[in-house]
Amino acid sequence: MADMSVKICGVDFKNPIIPASGVFGYGREYEELFPLQRLGGIATKGTTLHKRTGNPAPRIAETPSGMLNSVGLQNPGIDYFIENELPNLLEKETVILANFAGSTVDECVEVARRLDETDVHMLELNISCPNVKQGGAAFGTSCDMAAEVTAQVRRVTSKPLVVKLSPNVTSITDIAKAVEAAGADAISLINTLLGMRIDVNTRRPVLRNNVGGMSGAAVFPIAVRMVWQTANAVKIPVIGMGGVSSGRDAIEMMMAGAQAVQVGAAIFTDPYAPVRIIDEMNEFLDSKGIKDVKEIIGAVKPW
Ligand code: FUM
Repeated sequence: MADMSVKICGVDFKNPIIPASGVFGYGREYEELFPLQRLGGIATKGTTLHKRTGNPAPRIAETPSGMLNSVGLQNPGIDYFIENELPNLLEKETVILANFAGSTVDECVEVARRLDETDVHMLELNISCPNVKQGGAAFGTSCDMAAEVTAQVRRVTSKPLVVKLSPNVTSITDIAKAVEAAGADAISLINTLLGMRIDVNTRRPVLRNNVGGMSGAAVFPIAVRMVWQTANAVKIPVIGMGGVSSGRDAIEMMMAGAQAVQVGAAIFTDPYAPVRIIDEMNEFLDSKGIKDVKEIIGAVKPW
């Protein structure tokens, strides 16, 4: 068996596989299926300062090899998360990345300040949610706003700060460089691509919010391309995600330059996907005689 460990921003991961924010809740439903200790890490559902009920339904739609969501950052708020969910997660012997967002820069700063006082291992600042009117992708689609919110959050936390980027931009590398310069310790990408479906009988958009974020296997090549471009543009670590469904996909994402890989929509069709992917990666590495998963990071040989 290969050495599957990776170190990102000084934090040790036993393997590079992390369920992505929003598909794994706080792990409670999944700990009945497999030991969460098997995971490299867990990115928790995005937390905001106050409880949010999210967008009206329907807010999920299937698409060919993917899905659309417009959940709208439904969550119980930062105080509930810290008091009721984080203690259980911190017992799981895996890295906890607390994903958080805000409608304003001040809100992001306040959530980060409260998380900084906890034992959470890493913060993942979400500037890329396409389903909210304020904050979210409004921060992540402008270099200036992305840099501003990153810099303000940086001031209030000494924990490793990962900034999660939107693919709905003209230049992913410009945004990546802006958040790196503003103090991000790592970058995660891609969040969902903005999409839309219409019911041709009712002439209504399928989602009540009209538009939503697309994820799933169909977006994988876009994610690989953006991870590759970003990893070549910044010096800080990159965590890749977007349509990863198999161990082979995770290896591909790492060859593009990702130091770890988040698994999202695949978990909805196979709740065991993260542990299956870890096993499949191991099989691949063994079959190639590769002794250390770190050997494949950025190993792509571009033409
Ligand atoms: O709507 C949502 O809660 C999704 C958030 C995200 O994509 O970051």
